[in-house]
Amino acid sequence: MEIMQGLLRTHSCGTLTAANIGEQVTLMGWAHRRRDHGGLIFIDLRDRDGLTQIVLDPTVVAEAHTKGEQVRSEFVLAAVGKVRPRPEGTVNEKLKTGEIEVIITELRILNPSKTPPFMIDDYQEVNENVRLKYRYIDLRRPEIQKHIINRHRLTRAMREYLYDKGFLDIETPVLTKSTPEGARDYLVPSRVNPGRFFALPQSPQLFKQLLMISGYDKYFQIVKCFRDEDLRADRQPEFTQLDMEMSFIDREQLMELIEGLFAYLWKQVAGVEIPTPFQRLSYAEVMDRFGCDKPDTRYGLELINLSDLDYSGFQVFRNALDNGGQVKAINGIGCGELSRKDIDDMTKELTVFGAKGLAYIKVKENGEYQSPITKFLGEATLKAIVERCGANVGDCIFFMADTKKVVADSLNRLRSLLAQRLDLIDNSKYNFLWVTEFPLLEYDEDAKRWNAMHHPFTSPMDEDVPLLATDPGACRAKAYDLVLNGFEIGGGSIRIHREEVQSAMFSLLGIGEEEARAKFGFLLDALSFGTPPHGGIAFGVDRVAMILSGTNSIRDVIAFPKTQKATCVLTDAPSLVDDKQLRELHIKTTHIE
Ligand code: AMO
Ligand code: AMP
Repeated sequence: MEIMQGLLRTHSCGTLTAANIGEQVTLMGWAHRRRDHGGLIFIDLRDRDGLTQIVLDPTVVAEAHTKGEQVRSEFVLAAVGKVRPRPEGTVNEKLKTGEIEVIITELRILNPSKTPPFMIDDYQEVNENVRLKYRYIDLRRPEIQKHIINRHRLTRAMREYLYDKGFLDIETPVLTKSTPEGARDYLVPSRVNPGRFFALPQSPQLFKQLLMISGYDKYFQIVKCFRDEDLRADRQPEFTQLDMEMSFIDREQLMELIEGLFAYLWKQVAGVEIPTPFQRLSYAEVMDRFGCDKPDTRYGLELINLSDLDYSGFQVFRNALDNGGQVKAINGIGCGELSRKDIDDMTKELTVFGAKGLAYIKVKENGEYQSPITKFLGEATLKAIVERCGANVGDCIFFMADTKKVVADSLNRLRSLLAQRLDLIDNSKYNFLWVTEFPLLEYDEDAKRWNAMHHPFTSPMDEDVPLLATDPGACRAKAYDLVLNGFEIGGGSIRIHREEVQSAMFSLLGIGEEEARAKFGFLLDALSFGTPPHGGIAFGVDRVAMILSGTNSIRDVIAFPKTQKATCVLTDAPSLVDDKQLRELHIKTTHIE
């Protein structure tokens, strides 16, 4: 093994250009690829910034060439030599450093490497668990590295924008009390307080409100949050929020500030101009038009309501409507070619939402229609459906009857299936959308009680306050989500800033006075000591980074992510602990492995 001994790295591999020709350089990095041409050995030396081709010529320095013969993938090398232009015909246009190469006079092997479990060069898809187990190698791949660096540029730009607007970056505790954001808590036992537990924060919600009460009127933090919930491609048990809160602002000011933030981020990180203001739709409208509260508005295929037509001949539809359900449709433009099997396959995908069927009408030439339920619907209703949907020859209308929820969930899924099939998604588009006027509460059928749709600190809309006593479900909240290309990237609200309103809200949620005091007494107390009107929002940094990087998994933009099963295969966490440690923590486990 060789040591660096006196060698100083002078340049990084990825940044050499024709301007360096003639210079003596010392490069250090990893052997990305080695080609032995009998006489000459070429090694692509790689570091964070890119690759440089180094050349080992036995007629220049025989010793360096001999050493080059031992080099294998991922060996760590130091190479001293002179930058020269590549010979004619060998310039590599695709490479930043493709005009030059470095002819080596001294080569040191600083460290060999075992054969990596997968290749960085010439990477083929490997099982994600293998990639995560050897994440330190996976992170060397230029593709992943690009995502990680992009994310760095994203958080840097967030800070720049917010510092410039006068925001203070303030940390909040990680060992704390549970904040209800709708997921389960990760608990941490307290050794010195037997039987008591901290909760890791699901968000810094209450602390940022306390900071407003303390007068720090523009707060932000890029902060880890922890939620023990079912994971998906856009969810991790620990994730990062850009968390913000402001005093003395209204919704309009907040939205304008955020639009400026995202325009700045996209300009800085992607060089893309984002027009502002963003589109705004109410919750009621997105649910009606898209069947979901985070619609991808890059394509149409909107839902069309057919509930008012005549279904007297079709029992299934009549029943659904009589029970308060809906009939809704999507016009699949050009879908007339889909086979029976294609449609059956799509229908199968909808059964998870409770869909009992998917009816369709294909619009044929000469005013003819083809539908398996013609005999139930009758010509007049068929015609009315086709007209309502504005369907043309070659289109296929898909429609269904069921409860509002089943129709919304199923057609939302169908919308995205059709968009993929019809190739309607323009990946260069960034459609930001504000969804506003969320319901304040949602009814939990199982528990037979109201839950806060956002969180219990969200203020009702002023004009809807009287509804709290008469029709709580109809009460709208001063809450807003920011949606981008079908992902919820952020959510927030104007908060309740009066103690009596907060207490009323807790009691509406079935949180008794005693429980409210035990869980949120500190907040109720604080609200009584001069609380300014305030509001805020939090963004999922991982999701924003994912969309900016054009990947479809947030694991790609997190250096050390967890698996779908909430484990870390790299460190093998969570793991069993010593009995002694458990005893110290006053914990007994019932799970035996
Ligand atoms: P909310 O719960 O909507 O709001 O969270 C804000 C944003 O965080 C992201 N997010 C997640 N990202 C990855 N993995 C997860 N498990 C995950 N959960 C949430 C989403 C989401 O929009 N305290 C409030 C904010 C406020 O009212 O100011 C809150 O946490 O992009
Ligand atoms: P059935 O009488 O159950 O064989 O259904 C006849 C047709 O109606 C089939 O093509 C089903 O897919 C369709 N269908 C049944 N129930 C519904 C529903 N709730 N919504 C839409 N289509 C349905």
